Amino acid sequence: MNKIIYLDAAASALKPESVIKTEMDFLRNSYANAGRGICARAIAVDDKIANARKKVADFIGAKSPEQIVFTSGTTDGMNRITKIINDSVSGDSLKNKTIMVSDLDHHSARLPFEVLPDSIACKIILCPLDSKYNLTESDLPKADVFVITAMSNVLGVPQNVAGLVAAARKKNSDVITIVDAAQFIVHEKIDVQKWDCDFMCFSAHKIGADTGLGVMYIKNPERWILPDKFGGGMIARINGSAVNNDYSLQWEPAPDKFEAGTLPITQIVGLPAAIDYLEKNRPNLDLIKYLYDELSKNKKIKIITKRDATLLTFVVDGMHVLDFGALVGSAGVCLRVGNMCAGWIHKLLDIPGSIRISVGPWNTMDEMRQVVDLINSIVK
Ligand code: ALA
Repeated sequence: MNKIIYLDAAASALKPESVIKTEMDFLRNSYANAGRGICARAIAVDDKIANARKKVADFIGAKSPEQIVFTSGTTDGMNRITKIINDSVSGDSLKNKTIMVSDLDHHSARLPFEVLPDSIACKIILCPLDSKYNLTESDLPKADVFVITAMSNVLGVPQNVAGLVAAARKKNSDVITIVDAAQFIVHEKIDVQKWDCDFMCFSAHKIGADTGLGVMYIKNPERWILPDKFGGGMIARINGSAVNNDYSLQWEPAPDKFEAGTLPITQIVGLPAAIDYLEKNRPNLDLIKYLYDELSKNKKIKIITKRDATLLTFVVDGMHVLDFGALVGSAGVCLRVGNMCAGWIHKLLDIPGSIRISVGPWNTMDEMRQVVDLINSIVK
């Protein structure tokens, strides 16, 4: 094996040539800041940002581009949502609210609620899982906020988001629903109107766009009165007088209200190319099925995921996952080992960590054959 086999798409996707070219062309020939300039070049950048926002809105089935806020990633979005909900002046402070999370959650989906200071501490409850570790609507407890992991980064199974949102609303019509779609978006078409969620987040780098960029969809941006970040570009007007500090602030409408400071402009400019590429080149999950069939023949390998999952997660009898990762890594295979920042599902499965293979459109069946041979030569 003399070249890298990259099997860590679920951590971050390799970049299509079209994304690289778009960004390079922008950096070389058209770069300027966005939302600030009035020269033709700056206005052209504003148009590119507006086009990207519209592209994202269409991509996820949002009603309007104003519902699309650019963040630095899913982690940023999930943390910001906690603050946006808590700081809202519409009476939605989190103190004593019941927050439903689950053992499928990535740390970034659940920790922002778990670590709130005592002064605004909320009650954390768990969404039930069925025998196959799927979130289940039956006997769903009543919650004020419901965090839904649309696809676990360890188990790789799409969850019934629309059904879960509807079931949560039956228990409490005011429940705030937040969807972590970081893994789901790579594999399936999202329709936020069908899901009917209040918030949804994903990271651009997992769909082939650049790092440092994410999307936070907000169903009703005007409901959340107070922005969570403050700075340039989000204040429409300073009303009153500067004398004696006698003034009030008027925020820009969404999305600007939630986008203080300079955006990750280059990454946003590259995003439409990544979406176009992804829509035509979803990962080939036959590769995962092949790995499942071949690796299940090895008695020392215990596969955790289902055959039709979007990724393959396993452990090896008598071998630490870090040793396994180092051995395949030294042979040029990049995959992920550890707890995948999803400690709760590992606790539930009673394993300290696991080994994860995830594929992208760049992977081939020939690579899978090489990987199976390599793994069987290591796990005997
Ligand atoms: N959350 C990413 C993963 O699952 C980084 O690897």
